[in-house]
Order: sequence, then structure tokens, then C-alpha cells
Amino acid sequence: MLAFSSSCDDTAAAIVSDSGQIVSETNRHQHRVHEEHGGIVPGLAADHHLRNMPLVVRETLEKAAMRMEDVDAVAVTRGPGLPASLSVCLAAGKALAAVHAKPLVGVHHMEAHALMARMGAEDAVRFPYLCLLVSGGHTLSLVVHDVNEHTLLGSTRDDSVGEAFDKVARELAIPWLDAQDGGGPGPALEALARDGDPARFALPVPMLKSASATSLDFSFSGLKAHVRRMRERGAFSPAVRQDQADVAAAFQRAAADHLRRKTALALAHARAALRTAPTCIVASGGVASNHAVRAALAAVAARNGLPLVCPPPRLCTDNGVMIAWTGVERLRRGLLDPYTIDFIQRWPL
Ligand code: KG4
Ligand code: ZN
Repeated sequence: MLAFSSSCDDTAAAIVSDSGQIVSETNRHQHRVHEEHGGIVPGLAADHHLRNMPLVVRETLEKAAMRMEDVDAVAVTRGPGLPASLSVCLAAGKALAAVHAKPLVGVHHMEAHALMARMGAEDAVRFPYLCLLVSGGHTLSLVVHDVNEHTLLGSTRDDSVGEAFDKVARELAIPWLDAQDGGGPGPALEALARDGDPARFALPVPMLKSASATSLDFSFSGLKAHVRRMRERGAFSPAVRQDQADVAAAFQRAAADHLRRKTALALAHARAALRTAPTCIVASGGVASNHAVRAALAAVAARNGLPLVCPPPRLCTDNGVMIAWTGVERLRRGLLDPYTIDFIQRWPL
């Protein structure tokens, strides 16, 4: 399965075998391009995808010593995402698939995150499972019943957890790490938090009050605003490294605690209200590579007698492999798409 992806600011291609072996993969990041603008600039992202996509696809085939004739099918990211970016992978994937008469699979970016954990581990990650998707674009919990079949349990009412990490990183004036270290400033905040004392600043864990305590949803804007107000009133200085580290550690602990509580509630709901018996808890998306978040989720899993499964960090963040693997899973079930499909900008899971 050859996959193309250009959903946000990464141009990626990957070839994954039927059994879930990564044959070849290529990723071109644009983090440096957008860093100076303080966020993704859609027009710039599309320009870079247009320039990079042919090179990325060619490199991926060359590394695998394969030609299009050797590929069994083509998967493309169909959405959700920036229209100008999505158009690039769709146009490339559709054209190549059509010319070579290969089956085409349009992939939902979030389903790809949710199925990634099954690659090469289908016996360990059996349906149904509880999945927590924690990325820059989304924060949600769902029960994955099967490929193309899931029940959404909770989602964020405001910011995603990744956005909160990114905005708090900005409040702390933390520079973005090099692209190789993962997407966005989250990894830099995590690195800093290692040297911090999480108890020095008391940050409120979101949604603890009775009305929202039982909700399965998430909320991160209050936590982010709390850090902003602290900086505005001079409770810490972004210029002092120990202050940065202590706030980073306190924020990370509060965010991880919130995720832990809501995951426990989601699991209880899945068991009681949905009468499903999840076989494990899967956490995926960029923030699932955070060690404090993993530890918090591991605690929920252990208390409930379930394993916690997280893809390796580089497969938690956006990548082409997850699109290819989802293509494999969908192809097996005959979930193919015509060559005429368009992107879907807003695409609920
Ligand atoms: O899944 P992802 O690569 O892209 C989206 O689909 O959004 O997630 C990117 C998000 C960014 O907000 C980034 O700062 C965050 O995940 N992130 C982290 C870590 N690695 C990535 N946040 C906290 N700790 C990390 N180690
Ligand atoms: Zn993502």
C-alpha cells in the first residue's frame, strides 16, 4: 500500500506491506517555514506540498526499489484538514492510482491515528478498544468497534490538548525544537518540564466542578488562560529558566491529570452504557508521545486491568505510515473509493 499525505504541514509518503511492515517512508517537515509566522500559513503550506510531493513519492518508491506497477493500492489523506494542503495529496494519489489502475482508498486522518496502534500488533490491539486521540487538531475519546465503526465518547469543548501545550509553550517563550524531535513545541515543553517542580505553582485541573465533573468532554482553554494570567501579573518570568521549567511541569501535570480522569470516565461509560468490553486502551496523536501523559493513562489502564498501547512516538505524530496502514485495513474490507473523490475539510469522525 502506497500512501500520500499532506493534511497540514508535513508532506509524507509511505509504503506498508499487508502484514504491517514499513517498507519505505519519507517525511518532509515545514516546521522551520512556519515557525517565524508563529503558526501554519495555509498558502505557504500548499506551495511546499506542491513542490515536495513528487520528490517525496519518488524517493519513497526508490528507497523500496519499487515502481508503481509493484504497488497494490494507493491511499490518500482525504480530510479533515486545510483544503489547499489536502488537494495536493488527493490530486497526486488519484492521478497515479487512476493511471496505473490501482484501487484508491481515501483515509480519515483521525481514523488513521486510531488504527495506527494495530499495525504489526493486531493480536494485541483487538476490537473493540478505547482510544484516546490527543493531537494538535483534536482531543477525543472513542470506542473503536472495527474499521470504519466507532462511537465518539468525548471531545474538547474548546482547545485541543496539543494547542494548549503549544500556547503555553508560547507563554513561556519556549522555542520550537527541530522538526526531527516531533511536531510543534510540545516536545520542547516536555523537555523543560523534566527540570521543573510541578508543585511550585498550583494550576487548576479542568472540569472538576460537579456540573462538568461527570462529562466525558475535555477542556483546556481555562488551563491555558490561567498560565497567561500568571505571566501577565508577573507570577513567573519567561526569561528565568527555572520559572519556565516549573510552570511547564505544573501545566503538564494538570493536563495529564485531566486526561487521566476523563479517560477513566470514558472507560466506565463504554463498559456500563455501551456494554462493550474494551480489550485495551490505545493512546495516539502527537501528545501521546508525552511521558507524563503516558504515565497518567498507564495508571488508568492498570487500575482497570487493561494494557495501555501507544504507537512509538514517531508514529504517534502525523506520518504517512498511518495513512498506508489504514489503507491496508480498509482495502481488506473492500472499503474503496472512486477516482473522483474530493477532500473533506471538516469531517466528523
Ligand atoms: O498528531 P500531531 O502530530 O498532529 C496533529 O494531528 O495535530 O500532534 C501535534 C501536537 C502539537 O500540538 C505538539 O505540540 C504536540 O502534538 N506534541 C506534544 C509532544 N509531541 C507532540 N505535546 C506534548 N508533549 C510531547 N512530547
Ligand atoms: Zn494528527
